[in-house]
Amino acid sequence: MKILYVSSEAVPFCKTGGLADVAGSLPPALAEQGAEVAVVLPLYERVRDRFGSQMKFECYDYVNLAWRHSYCGLFSMEKDGVTWYFLDNEQYFNRGTLYGQADDGERFAFFSRAVVRMLDHFKFWPEVVHCNDWQSALVPIYLKDDGVREDRYRSIKTVLTIHNVEYQGRYNPYVLGELFGLDTGWVKDGTLLMDGDVNLLKGAVLCADAVNAVSPTYANELKMPYFAHRMEGIMRQCSDKLSGVLNGIDMKLYDPRTDNRIVKNFSAEDMTGKDACKAELRRMVGLREEAHTPIVAMVSRLVSHKGLDLICEVLHDMMELPMQMVVLGTGDQRYEEFFHWAAQQYPGRMAVRMDYNEDLSMAIYAGADLFLMPSKSEPCGLSQMIAMRYGTVPIVRETGGLKDTVQPCESWRDAGNGFSFTNYSSGDMLHVIREAVYLYKDYPDVFGRLRQRAMSCDFSWARSAREYLRIYATITGQAWPIPSDTRRAAEMSPEEAAPFAEVAPAEEAAPVEEAVPVVEAAPAEEAAPVEETVPVVEAAPVEEAAPVEEAVPVVEAAPAEEAAPVEEAVPVVEAAPVEEAVPAEEAVPVVEAAPAEEAAPAGKAAAEAAEEIVPAVETVPAPAEEKPAKKGRKAVSKSTSKAAKSEKKAAKKTSAKKGTAGK
Ligand code: GLC
Repeated sequence: MKILYVSSEAVPFCKTGGLADVAGSLPPALAEQGAEVAVVLPLYERVRDRFGSQMKFECYDYVNLAWRHSYCGLFSMEKDGVTWYFLDNEQYFNRGTLYGQADDGERFAFFSRAVVRMLDHFKFWPEVVHCNDWQSALVPIYLKDDGVREDRYRSIKTVLTIHNVEYQGRYNPYVLGELFGLDTGWVKDGTLLMDGDVNLLKGAVLCADAVNAVSPTYANELKMPYFAHRMEGIMRQCSDKLSGVLNGIDMKLYDPRTDNRIVKNFSAEDMTGKDACKAELRRMVGLREEAHTPIVAMVSRLVSHKGLDLICEVLHDMMELPMQMVVLGTGDQRYEEFFHWAAQQYPGRMAVRMDYNEDLSMAIYAGADLFLMPSKSEPCGLSQMIAMRYGTVPIVRETGGLKDTVQPCESWRDAGNGFSFTNYSSGDMLHVIREAVYLYKDYPDVFGRLRQRAMSCDFSWARSAREYLRIYATITGQAWPIPSDTRRAAEMSPEEAAPFAEVAPAEEAAPVEEAVPVVEAAPAEEAAPVEETVPVVEAAPVEEAAPVEEAVPVVEAAPAEEAAPVEEAVPVVEAAPVEEAVPAEEAVPVVEAAPAEEAAPAGKAAAEAAEEIVPAVETVPAPAEEKPAKKGRKAVSKSTSKAAKSEKKAAKKTSAKKGTAGK
């Protein structure tokens, strides 16, 4: 399987957040599983400075975007079984920072357009292009746009991963032609329009063959207004192709047995080194020596959605407990001021460092006893997994990836790997912190076993990579692992092999008429695992499993038999935790509502009508018998929108960018 992974940052080349960790680890893990993988990144100044000498210049070409005709150089590097490509254009990328510039929209439109333009120059023509967040959200859109004219672009399937839905790439619709080189049809049919803005993430969600969030719970949360930043209607509409794949961590880099960044190594079997790490941490940050007293730690950006308001509310109650606290991070001034003040109130018991400090963060992971993450929302979160690896037991709010990685401790039966609370409430948080602190103090054996369970969790990328390969296999109609790779398949344990069991080899793919009604159509033995593990599947009305053409207005080009695997995957259903999925499904009659394109009448009032789509999607369930009629309407509107797209407007209005969008 040939995968092109597109990201705006990746470790070790450039990093502003968790996306870089994922983009640095997932591609090698995919390669490890036998996929052919290339990654493409912008050649930022800092990347050129640090890695330029190790790169090979491949070639250059020119990228046409609206009226611009820009140079694009292609550099490459082989590393960890992956080819890393870097797209060079000094005007756009030779800058000190990655994001936050006034022309970010133009910069990442160039990047996305260049990815598609340079496909001819990569080492393979990809079967799957995997994009991430708004910065590469235009890639699936450009592939659809080019696919109208050239078949070969239609052969490529696309995946979009949402790491944080807050950043969507929103622009004034007037810039569509000027900045993104797209026809007004894309706004008129509603694909790119949301709340009066061009919204790149929305467009990519509609255009991609599969969409995933970075944890199963976050995938489910994306269908709820509280978490989705206005995208909930679109996410519900596309729920048939939405799934959640939990990120991993680099288990070799974060290994307390071998890590030379910590003062003494230790393991779940021999924890004596952890005591030395705790003593060292106390020394580093100025906490006093106090026997049988746990250190509660936070390593976090100091911003609201990390749940800091809860701590502000009950800090004094927390500090009444027999515990010490250490906080590391930078962020909003009000939180920095609060923690600065708090440290002065509790000298020797509370230490605060306003810093981004890799060494200190490792000393904290290794030396602390409890790790606090009371986030309001957390798409995945990596820190809790790193903390667990170092025997620092997490206390989290049950949201996103925190919920998926931390199972609450039930000491009476030695189960769970941390502590958690459900409601965003300081009282609930305090209650759980108290429980954790006293378990540490009064029942050291029980706490020790809890710590061991946390340390032995499997957060390896291999597990995530297998889930992504399964998504790729589903949208391309390929079997995975490929039948010829019997060696690899034979090496798998039954648990490892399980996820692949349901993927039918391409030649066995069900005919379209059978495949469309999804679960019911699948032969009993194929459907069984899904139905058994996740009863939600059965609860979903048939109409919700919308055929691809309905969920994705721009998919006209997809041949019918290609649609089948997407239907079969129903990835979100597998990902959704049962207890949450059920109310969500019940509350929202999802896909019956007209998709964007269907709702948008061609003609004068098209744009306004298209804007009304989102509320319509959320609220208007259409009876099943309307479906054929809708399909008829859709055919008309499709051809109209196609015509509109091909009719290039000569005069483009001058750009009027709306904010800097994105990050
Ligand atoms: C974003 C999310 C974070 C996630 C990371 C990697 O930074 O906020 O929760 O772990 O992306 O996917």
